Amino acid sequence: MAGLVKSDTEDFIDWWQHTVFYQIYPRSFMDSNGDGIGDLKGITSKLRYLADTGITATWLSPIFQSPMVDFGYDISDYKAIQPEYGTMQDFEELIDTAFELGIKVVLDFVPNHSSDQHEWFKKSAAREPGYEDFYVWHDGIVQENGTRVPPNNWPSVFYGSAWEWHEGREQYYLHQFTKEQPDLNYRNPKVVQAMDDVLLFWLNKGVAGFRIDAVNHLFEDESLKDEPLSGKTGDSLSYDYTEHIYSRDLPEVLEMIHHWRQLLDDFSAKHPERPTRIMMTEAYAGLTQLADYYEDSNGVRGSHLPFNFHFITDVKGDSDARDYVYNVEKWLIYMPRGHAANWVMGNHDNPRVASRFGPASVDAMNMLLLTLPGVAVTYNGEELGMVDYRELSWEDTVDPPARNVGEELYQEVSRDPVRTPFQWSSETNAGFSTATKTWLPVHPNYLELNLEAQKAANRSHYQVYKDLLELRKSAIMRVGRFNIEPLTRWVFAFKRSYPNFESIITVINVSDKEQLVDLSEFLSQPKKLVVEVSGVDSKYQPGQSLAASALLLAAREGLVCRLV
Ligand code: GLC
Repeated sequence: MAGLVKSDTEDFIDWWQHTVFYQIYPRSFMDSNGDGIGDLKGITSKLRYLADTGITATWLSPIFQSPMVDFGYDISDYKAIQPEYGTMQDFEELIDTAFELGIKVVLDFVPNHSSDQHEWFKKSAAREPGYEDFYVWHDGIVQENGTRVPPNNWPSVFYGSAWEWHEGREQYYLHQFTKEQPDLNYRNPKVVQAMDDVLLFWLNKGVAGFRIDAVNHLFEDESLKDEPLSGKTGDSLSYDYTEHIYSRDLPEVLEMIHHWRQLLDDFSAKHPERPTRIMMTEAYAGLTQLADYYEDSNGVRGSHLPFNFHFITDVKGDSDARDYVYNVEKWLIYMPRGHAANWVMGNHDNPRVASRFGPASVDAMNMLLLTLPGVAVTYNGEELGMVDYRELSWEDTVDPPARNVGEELYQEVSRDPVRTPFQWSSETNAGFSTATKTWLPVHPNYLELNLEAQKAANRSHYQVYKDLLELRKSAIMRVGRFNIEPLTRWVFAFKRSYPNFESIITVINVSDKEQLVDLSEFLSQPKKLVVEVSGVDSKYQPGQSLAASALLLAAREGLVCRLV
């Protein structure tokens, strides 16, 4: 295709502004030693797969030493590798191999809380000098009848009070997640210092940056006042019980983001031999807040990529074309000028695309994700259209929020179904492991749904995904202007264009019925559409010419075309 050549654009686009970040959930990606648990050597052995697919950046869910209560989001040593996952040497080999293959590695940084097994917590609980205020401690309230209760009504994200009594210290400590994940106290400069040290440790090992976990939970109002009730539920143990005005999204969060941005920028400036080090922040927060994370009203830059979860939280299987267009536009409108948009299609905390939108939507959703301007984030397995293992039994359930709500309700909140092992092949355990039992069961559909089969097939989700990544290399996809419109209630289209170059058009039918659309007005040029990428079940073949005035799209079909 005609297009800009790389040298035309490389000066004004940095690597992270248009990359695809492929999220690896290490526990479930590849097991190299047959213990049923994914590990670093397993990841290293599959980096070639990422490179062959066209992936140039990956973010890894936590790989650090952890009692694994929340599967690595409870860290007991921020500078050590979890032994089940391997050694520091394995990590160094992973980084070296990734570097050779042109893949940047981003680590998960979990600053809000440590594990209760971390030495900081043990020292804090023992009131060791220097550590007394590392965490958020409180005496609680002694009621008239003499019983002691927690300082306030805050519930934890994972169900139950956010306060736990510590027998040793004879005080309550705050935990916004499980009780084994005590909240660090960011009002204590020693905590900030200790965490800077952690970031520098990993930067010096050659990582490209960090995905920062649960960042909007970092600070709590010092008054520790009761939160107003939301009215959504009468269950005082449920996270929905209160409006989180004192425990989440405090203005101090932004200051900490600025602090970390400065640390990254300073490091990048001192070590220009490697690409810009970046941060991606995880916060399920309001649009204006997330826009401020990019850059606040004073022009201070923060997160390179505040994760945009709207395709997960605000668009559903029954959403129509207006909902999609609205959700895309609202991000672009609120994002301060001169920043890179980002689109997250899935992660280890939410149902998969095939389960949210139905298996027929897999290709169209990848087309949407990968042809929008800016950064795309893919959760491992989404390139194959892996499906949640919703039938996973209570006995096999290990996710803490699911265990907390009990056998009756676990399926409503369990994240285990989206974390089952990667389906590499039709061999035992989908080629993930040679163990007799894997940490989570493999989805039984692996015999048909696996990478090997999708590579061998004439057409497959994987091949569509790969074709889209190939298309993304073209300059028009990096710098092309963007406009999007609903064509009908159920079909929307968007265009990437650049003067004197062929435009790329993506058109998507989000309904369960066939739809006939006329694109002439949207294109406003009497030109021809040529199919660039079509879905697995499409009747259209790449290279085929289409009439823009009467385009028939099958249920849930997406098409990416070139305007010639
Ligand atoms: C983030 C992670 C999630 C984890 C939680 C607590 O939301 O994505 O998996 O359980 O933080 O660390």
